Amino acid sequence: AFNWFDAMRSSQPVYHDEQSHTWHIFRYEDIKQALTDTAHFSSENVPGFSEGTFLKGTIVAKDPPAHRKLRNLINQAFTPRAVNHLSGRVTQIAQELLDDVLPTGKMDVVRDIAFPFPAKVIAELLGVPANDWDIFRRWAGAEDGQDQQPHSPQQAMKMRQTMENQMYDYFSHLLEERRRAPREDLISSLSVAEIDGERLNENELVSFCILLLAAGQETTKNLIANALYCFTEYPELQERLRQDPALMPTTIEEVLRYLPPVWFTFRRTASDVELGGKTIPANSLVLVWNASGNRDPEQFPEPGRFDLKREPNRHLTFGHGIHFCIGAPLARLEARILLPMMLEQLKDIKRVPDVPIVVRAGIVYVIQSLPITFQP
Ligand code: HEM
Repeated sequence: AFNWFDAMRSSQPVYHDEQSHTWHIFRYEDIKQALTDTAHFSSENVPGFSEGTFLKGTIVAKDPPAHRKLRNLINQAFTPRAVNHLSGRVTQIAQELLDDVLPTGKMDVVRDIAFPFPAKVIAELLGVPANDWDIFRRWAGAEDGQDQQPHSPQQAMKMRQTMENQMYDYFSHLLEERRRAPREDLISSLSVAEIDGERLNENELVSFCILLLAAGQETTKNLIANALYCFTEYPELQERLRQDPALMPTTIEEVLRYLPPVWFTFRRTASDVELGGKTIPANSLVLVWNASGNRDPEQFPEPGRFDLKREPNRHLTFGHGIHFCIGAPLARLEARILLPMMLEQLKDIKRVPDVPIVVRAGIVYVIQSLPITFQP
């Protein structure tokens, strides 16, 4: 895929694919421009967030001015303080997961750590009771297709709707409880967030909880798996980071740039718009290739090199502009807590030889299984 990005960036940076009737944007500057120009590049009516899903009405699928109202209200509750407040619990969750695998000297990074860790953290953030962890895990897993596989797109849609209905009922019930007896959790503080007398209504609140599960679980899972992939692909990283833990934050940013958990975002043109010398007609579906922008040599010297000290590193992995990821501070906190613990407690981390790592390749690459061995 990275070779394809390189070729497209130099030959057809704004490309119309006639077969699929989609437009594709590959250069760093063009991507930034498209994501900034929300008047021409709309987030409404794009795949994944359109008909038949609660995600349709959520913040990620809204344009200004509706977007601003939601974002301001959510920002009141989802503050840096609220995120930092979680760090003690995040450390505990990480330790519990590590304790389960430490004595064995081996694990599947995805199954044992990368998958459960962010799901547990989001449950904690939202204030989902510990007893309900199993239902919650099922939803988080089903998002990733770990449950039964659908046989057709119609069936997939139906399965998704059934699951979303369950989630909706679950969260509206939880919301009702927290309204009666507020606690120190995100659901409670979201339900009282208020600007100019306006609050989030029940539908907005519940849909946002479902969005957080979708947006914050699979993405962070990929970040953790990709980091461990880099640590095993370039084993010298492990010792350098053990000796100099201060390098961890820039290393995490480089993992995010180099192997992004999210490869592209969708937009739809609201009217004809010119970009990179091409005119994209109104109502076109546009794939904005954030992952390609991250490898643009105009922005990143030697983009194909993994540089743990890269600075500046203004990658596009969390998006750009008004929809810039709300969860970025949480994802960074999770990685900055978990990864040093792993390097400290697991020595000599190696991929299991002859067992291929499982990668789901479509238009995005996602590591689905990464077996490793280590010395406890
Ligand atoms: C938005 C990536 C983790 C919640 C976004 C966007 C990207 C992204 C690219 C912009 C979408 C667009 O422009 O259409 C990531 C990555 C993550 C991550 C790579 C992990 C490494 C999280 C977490 C949460 C979260 C942990 C919450 C718990 C959101 C929300 C939005 C968003 C609510 C919508 C913001 C808006 O529309 O204003 N994320 N995300 N994300 N993300 Fe994340």
